[in-house]
Amino acid sequence: MAHFDSKNLKTLGVYASGGDAPGMNAAIRAVVRTAILRNLRVVGIVQGYTGFLKKEFNEMELRSVANIIQRGGSILKAGRCPEFREAKYRKIAAENLRSFGIDGLICIGGDGSFTGANLLWQEQQIPVVGIPGTIDNDIYGTEYTIGFDTAVNTALDAIDRIRDTAASHDRLFIIEVMGRESGFIAVAAGLAGGAEDIFIPEHPFELKHTIELIKRGIARGKMSSILVAAEGPKPGRAYDLADEIRKSSGLESKVCVLGHIQRGGAPTAMDRLLASRMGAKSVDEILHGQCDIMIGVRGQEMVTCELSDCLHKKKHVDHSLIELAKILSN
Ligand code: ADP
Ligand code: F6P
Repeated sequence: MAHFDSKNLKTLGVYASGGDAPGMNAAIRAVVRTAILRNLRVVGIVQGYTGFLKKEFNEMELRSVANIIQRGGSILKAGRCPEFREAKYRKIAAENLRSFGIDGLICIGGDGSFTGANLLWQEQQIPVVGIPGTIDNDIYGTEYTIGFDTAVNTALDAIDRIRDTAASHDRLFIIEVMGRESGFIAVAAGLAGGAEDIFIPEHPFELKHTIELIKRGIARGKMSSILVAAEGPKPGRAYDLADEIRKSSGLESKVCVLGHIQRGGAPTAMDRLLASRMGAKSVDEILHGQCDIMIGVRGQEMVTCELSDCLHKKKHVDHSLIELAKILSN
C-alpha cells in the first residue's frame, strides 16, 4: 500500500472505466456526496481515460448525483481508451488533471482500468483508489464486484423463463452468459437456475460427459435440460457447442445468447449497498493518505487490497459448484 501526504488534497476526480456495470451510478453518488461532505471539491471525468485526454471534466455538486442510485449504466459514461496504454498519453493525462486542480482520483472499473490507475500513481504520482465495478466478478481482493449480483439475477430471470418453454416442448437449451475470461456469472446463474451443466473458460470440459448426463436424464423421463455456458473468448460460442452436441449425439438444442442485457438495468439492493459502502470507504481511504489500493468486501467487512495484488493475483471460481449443479439437477 502506498502513502501520500493527503493534507493538500483538495480536488477529487471520479471516473468509471471499462465495461459499465449496474451500480456504478450508486458508487459515483457515494463518492461525490462523501467527498463534498468532507469538504473536497469533486470533478466527474467523462468516459474513463478518454475524458482525461479530452479534458472532459465536470464539476459535481450534491445534486449532480440526485435520483441516480436506482439507475443502471453510468452518468459519467464508461468505456475504453487504447492510448492510455502508452506512457506519453498518461503524462498528458496527468498534466490535464493538474491543470484542472485534480490531485486525487477514484477509479470505478475492472483490472484494465486499475492497471492504468496503478501506472498513473507510479509514473505521475497521482494518488488513486479503485472501486471494483464489473459484472464479471473476476477481481482478486474482493468477494464481490459492483454489478455482478444484478447481472446474475438478470441471467437467472432469463433461465427461469426459458425453463418454462424448455419443459413445455421437451427441449435442450444452451444459454450463453457473459464472461470473456471468467465463469463467475455462469456458475452462479447456472447453479441458482438448476442448470444440468455449466461451461466456463477456466475449467476444461468434455461434451461427451454432458451428453451422457442428458441421455441418462432422458432415459429416466427427464425430457428437458438447460446448459449454461460463459461466452469465453468468442461471444456466440454456444452455437458451436450446439453444433458439436448435434454432430456427436444427434441431440438438437436451442441456443439463447443473453449478451449485453446483463450489463443493464436497475442494480439490485445488494449492488446498491455494495456501491454505497465502497464509494464512501474509497473517499475515507484517500483522505487518510492511502492510495494504490482497491476497496473490497470480505464477508460483511469493507477491506482494502493493494492494486498490484489485484492485478497480479487470480481469483478462482469454485469448481465444486459446477459438480454440485450436476448432482442437484439429477
Ligand atoms: P476493465 O477495466 O473492465 O478491465 P478494460 O480492460 O477494457 O476494462 O480496460 C479499460 C481501460 O483501462 C482501457 O481502455 C485503457 O484505457 C485502460 N487500460 C487497460 N489496460 C491498460 C494497460 N495495460 N495500461 C494502461 N492502461 C490500461
Ligand atoms: O463487462 C465485462 C464484459 O461483460 C465481459 O464479460 C464481456 O466479454 C465484455 O465485457 C464485453 O464488453 P464489450 O462488448 O463492451 O467489449
